[in-house]
Amino acid sequence: MAVNLKGRSFLTLMDFTPSEIRYMLDLSHDLKAKKRAGISNYILKGKNIVLLFEKTSTRTRCAFEVGALEEGAHVTYLDQNSSQMGKKESLEDTAKVLGRYYDGIEYRGYKQSVVEDLAKYSGVPVWNGLTDVDHPTQILADMLTIEEHVAKPLNKVKVVFAGDTRNNMTYAWMYGCAKMGMHFVAFGPQELAPSKEVMDRVQEVAKETGAIIEFSSDSASVQNADVIYSDVWASMGEEDQIPARVKLLTPYKVTMELLQKTGNPDVIFMHCLPAFHDFETKMAKEWMDKGFDIREVTDEVFRSRHCVAFDEAENRMHTIKAIMVATL
Ligand code: CP
Ligand code: NVA
Repeated sequence: MAVNLKGRSFLTLMDFTPSEIRYMLDLSHDLKAKKRAGISNYILKGKNIVLLFEKTSTRTRCAFEVGALEEGAHVTYLDQNSSQMGKKESLEDTAKVLGRYYDGIEYRGYKQSVVEDLAKYSGVPVWNGLTDVDHPTQILADMLTIEEHVAKPLNKVKVVFAGDTRNNMTYAWMYGCAKMGMHFVAFGPQELAPSKEVMDRVQEVAKETGAIIEFSSDSASVQNADVIYSDVWASMGEEDQIPARVKLLTPYKVTMELLQKTGNPDVIFMHCLPAFHDFETKMAKEWMDKGFDIREVTDEVFRSRHCVAFDEAENRMHTIKAIMVATL
């Protein structure tokens, strides 16, 4: 059956069928090839989009801006201090106003209910640019990157996520892998295990797609992995928890030894970025001065041939462009 995503919001991969996700990936491959060939069809000419950011961003903001501009759309960027939203005007009223001006709305912030409400009240497609519990545009870019680097169909790929296994990236991966029939291991401490609610939801989908979604604290679970994935140990807004996280997550740091444990010489290392892999950031340096090494991956792994994090970063743009093109 033909896939038509016009007018749809992109709030979580759980809202999409495997064929719809496949369609967005194929469109991403196609738009990437067209960009490489210098071809633009200005598919979004005459469209206006607004980007709402309540948390900081490099990749997601720039990917939306460049992706939209390359296809001929106009972009407005609003950070948390430059609109009335939530302070002088309710979310519902703001959404109703934005829906009168814009053809699509991107939102990055805290609660998932905010993207849901924006979609409910604006009447235009809303795209989730990260919430506390999901980051679906990142997963599309990661799947595209896997298809470029791993010579297997997605449903034969094993991804191991090492670290904070109840953050937005883990949950987004669990949803994506469940939908695409992949093998996913959340590898982290019991104290940070995925919630039962999320595990139950993905197991329901896995029954249909043949996916395997597991949690493990045992490093033997990395065996035969195609992908080792990591993310910061404390997400935006959780910085006060850093000392406790360092204690809990240091055994789950991605090292060459962990990559070797996979038994796969071609295993790839992936990271949504930004990453703490050296002491060239203010945060990593300041915490180290206080006795906490917050690096979730060693510099050796990050700079090795295994790391494809910058290909992933590039693919944010191609996949976000595809999401806008598909839904507008
Ligand atoms: N990966 C990602 O979402 O990066 P930004 O926080 O820079 O947008
Ligand atoms: N878990 C991270 C992802 C950043 C892209 C955070 O929310 O800060």
